[in-house]
Amino acid sequence: MTEQQSDQMTGYGPARESAAEALAWLVDQGDRFGHFIDGAFTAPGNGFMSHNPATGEVLATLTQAGARDVDAAVDAARKAQGKWHRLGGKGRARHLYALARMIQKHARLFAVLEVLDNGKPIREARDIDIPLAQRHFYHHAGLAQLIDSECPDTEPHGVCGQIIPWNFPLLMLAWKLAPALAAGNTVILKPAEQTSLTALLFADICRQAGLPKGVVNIVTGDGTVGEMIVTHAGIDKIAFTGSTAVGRRIRELTAGSGKALTLELGGKSPFIVFDDADPDSAVEGVVDAIWLNQGQVCCAGSRLLLQESIAEAFLDKLRARMARLRVGDPLDKNTDIGAMIDMTARDRVAALVEGAGGARFTPDTPLPETGAFCPPTLIAGLSPADPLMQDEIFGPVLVSTTFRTPAEAVALANDTRYGLAASVWSEDISRALVVAPQLAAGVVWVNGTNMLDAAAPFGGLRESGFGREGGWEGLAAYTRPAGKSRPLARIAPFAGNGDPAAGDIDRTAKLYIGGKQVRPDGGYSRNVYGKAGKLLGQAPMAARKDIRNAVEAARGASAWGRSTGHQRAQILYYMAENLSARADDFTRLVNHMTGTRGGAKEVEAAIDRLFTCAAWADKMDGRSVDTPVPGLTLTLRQPVGVIGALCPDEAPLLGLVSVLGPIMAMGNRAVLVASEPFPLAALEFVQVLETSDVPAGVANLLSGCHEDLAPTLAGHMDIDAVWSFSSSDLSGAIERDSAASLKRTWVNHGTTRDWPGPQGEGRAFLDAATEIKTLWLPAAL
Ligand code: NAI
Repeated sequence: MTEQQSDQMTGYGPARESAAEALAWLVDQGDRFGHFIDGAFTAPGNGFMSHNPATGEVLATLTQAGARDVDAAVDAARKAQGKWHRLGGKGRARHLYALARMIQKHARLFAVLEVLDNGKPIREARDIDIPLAQRHFYHHAGLAQLIDSECPDTEPHGVCGQIIPWNFPLLMLAWKLAPALAAGNTVILKPAEQTSLTALLFADICRQAGLPKGVVNIVTGDGTVGEMIVTHAGIDKIAFTGSTAVGRRIRELTAGSGKALTLELGGKSPFIVFDDADPDSAVEGVVDAIWLNQGQVCCAGSRLLLQESIAEAFLDKLRARMARLRVGDPLDKNTDIGAMIDMTARDRVAALVEGAGGARFTPDTPLPETGAFCPPTLIAGLSPADPLMQDEIFGPVLVSTTFRTPAEAVALANDTRYGLAASVWSEDISRALVVAPQLAAGVVWVNGTNMLDAAAPFGGLRESGFGREGGWEGLAAYTRPAGKSRPLARIAPFAGNGDPAAGDIDRTAKLYIGGKQVRPDGGYSRNVYGKAGKLLGQAPMAARKDIRNAVEAARGASAWGRSTGHQRAQILYYMAENLSARADDFTRLVNHMTGTRGGAKEVEAAIDRLFTCAAWADKMDGRSVDTPVPGLTLTLRQPVGVIGALCPDEAPLLGLVSVLGPIMAMGNRAVLVASEPFPLAALEFVQVLETSDVPAGVANLLSGCHEDLAPTLAGHMDIDAVWSFSSSDLSGAIERDSAASLKRTWVNHGTTRDWPGPQGEGRAFLDAATEIKTLWLPAAL
């Protein structure tokens, strides 16, 4: 587009930010970059070019890392980690503060370099990317200052591998590095191959700021380098932001390795406009939701859901607004839409638009003749199942449809495999507050969109990944319980000596599914013997079909998730009471099964644990988050959904209760497989459930072979999370098979870290049984 055309369209002349300082910095570096390892840049090696997507010009040559570079970076990070941790939170806080100050000082250079490398409009880089990156380091300097006093029983993972995308290069770096460093980890980070320059400038700043060598290491290259990091044996935790396909592959590659993992993946976030929304604000909201960063935003409001009665008028208004969006030179301060990341992305989006059905609208906006520019596009009237309504387009393309009632809006909004964000527009606050909690999304904005802050947890559900970034919750993802863990010894069942049944406790137990005692699908049971080899009873061997039935029953019991904490507490208290009434029976059973005299103590502890879970049922509060946005930002604790779990093998009653209690208390439904060697206590516990008003389907109890049932639990698409505290290490199968649905997993890797034994009461269970939803309620000033 010529300057003259641009003037005619808007009445403004161009106001171009100078690229001189950023280009001079590139020249100073020789236009060629190596990696940043152990506090210094390596010599540039064979590599690839970084382009300006708005012009196609080459900005610099970068080095493709090889295995040796990755090894060197991991070694440097490992060497530095102990000392960095021992510096203490307060010592690390000073370094994070210094980095924040340096970003602030070089804000303009960072912003312009980001624009040159990424193609985003300078207004966004200047007002959003760089200030938020800065704020992230400041906020985490504070969290580092407080971590030792506020999180005393935690320790860092060690060395973290972090892989980030190209859409918010410096901001994603800040999101990853700041919490990792605050918690005492050291890092090897790989920026996206398209946009490594601000990461390299940041490396330069680490050097200038005197960050100890090896604490931050940056290696450049494509996905093969990412994969080297993901599979490197010297790395303890992987954090990834990017596409769902790569996230899934990373889940598979890390399965069973013991590496901690957080994934922030794609989205197809709904933008819901009710008939009582302020239309002008909502139209501006749409602009920010889908045309920020050319729509290349994981939480972009890319599905517009309009209440039918206002749809036509709203779309007319929106089309008129679209015609005024300026597409062009990203360095021009008047530009609304810059260049996409590269020509491949542009051509991909253009092809999707070309093949789309529905009513298409693209304004007659002049586009620059060269560069990866793509006009804003609206496609209305698609069916909910249309691929464009379901798949992430990751470009400036908005799809839209209509709804009649709030219930229909919620159903449409949730009709997606993703669950990252959602936006609700209504002037009726109570309507918004009814709808927001029902949306399957980790972040919900009411009368707002794309609000982000270092203090506010961000992250998704379903195929949008797991884990949160930002705030205390984000910090927690970079720590683990402190202390030594010991290897778990596999507990095998006792063998029989052929003696006849041991009198009064001979029984043939059944599975408990959907509130009914049922025989296992295959009809198989196994003998359960006591320590002396006497037959104690028979435990059913559940099969795949039984798990499926149990999941169906659990799905049907969704009303439990909508009950109040008070109501759930009453039922848990009732369970404790009924267990107490049968304490002697359970004591005998536990003693016989385990061959110990620990039964009475275990029953007492199980009763106490139910009381604790009842106590927590209405106290796992969210909080109000202090963000710079006026109004309220809240975190809510919501149930995860259906949780499948393999119960601990030891402490067969207490283990069951330790898992079931928090699951139920937080509003989830359970599909539990009892202790494998000692299953009878769990099956006897059915009597307690039946007499305690537990709604059918909330607690389903099965017994059988953990190893056989683990893949079925992990692979079931309607289970939201799988836990394993089995004494067998089943982490490989569970983590690998969970990749298809990207479900949450919490599994032991053959050590006691996750199930430290019968003392395993604590927040970890409650945390794992809840999802954080961040609800933004900005005040209209
Ligand atoms: P991508 O997921 O391939 O790339 C993100 C990062 O992962 C880059 O640093 C890349 O080098 C690295 N990577 C690629 N393959 C890897 C592997 N096998 N192991 C480890 N790391 C690997 O995303 P891409 O190809 O750049 O974009 C494709 C689509 O992904 C987009 O069109 C969009 O739909 C989605 N995407 C989502 C993002 C988000 O913020 N959620 C960001 C970027 C892309």
